[in-house]
Amino acid sequence: MADDDVPVTRPLVRPRRLRRTPGLRNLVAETSLEARQLVLPLFVREGIDEPVAISSMPGVVQHSRDTLLKAVAEAADLGLGGVMLFGIPEAKDPTGSGAIDPGGILNLAITDVVGEVGDALTVMSDLCLDEFTDHGHCGVLTPDGRVDNDATLELYAEMARAQAHAGVDAVGPSGMMDGQVRVVREALDAASHAEVAVIAYSAKYASAFFGPFREAVDSSLVGDRKTYQQDPRNGREGVREALLDVEEGADVVMVKPALGYLDVVAAVRAAVDVPVAAYNVSGEYAMVEAAAAQGWIDREAAILESLTSIRRAGADVVLTYWAAEAARLLRR
Ligand code: PBG
Repeated sequence: MADDDVPVTRPLVRPRRLRRTPGLRNLVAETSLEARQLVLPLFVREGIDEPVAISSMPGVVQHSRDTLLKAVAEAADLGLGGVMLFGIPEAKDPTGSGAIDPGGILNLAITDVVGEVGDALTVMSDLCLDEFTDHGHCGVLTPDGRVDNDATLELYAEMARAQAHAGVDAVGPSGMMDGQVRVVREALDAASHAEVAVIAYSAKYASAFFGPFREAVDSSLVGDRKTYQQDPRNGREGVREALLDVEEGADVVMVKPALGYLDVVAAVRAAVDVPVAAYNVSGEYAMVEAAAAQGWIDREAAILESLTSIRRAGADVVLTYWAAEAARLLRR
């Protein structure tokens, strides 16, 4: 304890000096958050004429083909970096055939969207079977119900060709099958689509924070994805997955979810020399929205702080359901 007679030592170093005014704080800010770094995930559902609300993701909807075009036009106007498209078919089956069908909802939507925005916005598509299978898994099943890695790879190759043919700029293999990036890259190249980029969901965890997404895509999944998505206890393994994907030809690697995995984002950023993306997932969105709806949190500040934190951890690109709104907030 300080003796009453001893004078308090005045600090020699004063970090607060640089925090005194907004101008000083802006001058020395280490991290930027810009619209061009944000990617908006969008859902398009077959067979609807009006958008359908997703109750666990207030403000996010399943789009019809028409309203999807309005959303992408707005995304382009706002200067977003891109959109990530997810399709919800009317009918699902064991092999997810709607994913490969050139007339499947996602492939049609890709062509619509590219026709609407051209090169103004990077158009990406989720490359995974879970929205299309009746069992809800990311791949096809063996007779005894396990997810069959190599049989699934063959379908991913076909899906990559279908999406590239529809005109997509980048495909996002997200099923966590071993070897998926190599198979997708080879399929694209063999089909004369060497220009299509691969944004790989590399370190993707078996996360409870994907919960609301399952409602968003009308998923029929029973159980979990723990035999293919990563164990949340493993950080080094996330780096290993990212390095493997770079070796297999990934142009961008992704970590998902984002906020609970900022250590993985930072470690991956340090380990690779390709751009790193992070996906601020449905459950992370829902938590802030739910708290804000109760008046328990300052919604706009929490959105910008969340996205800035993901950037600070090392993500070059952030996928977020708040992309359009954040772009608007950043313009103020
Ligand atoms: C798989 C996929 C999922 C998400 C993105 N791509 C679901 C899953 O792996 O279970 C989750 C996104 C989110 O929660 O926001 N197609």
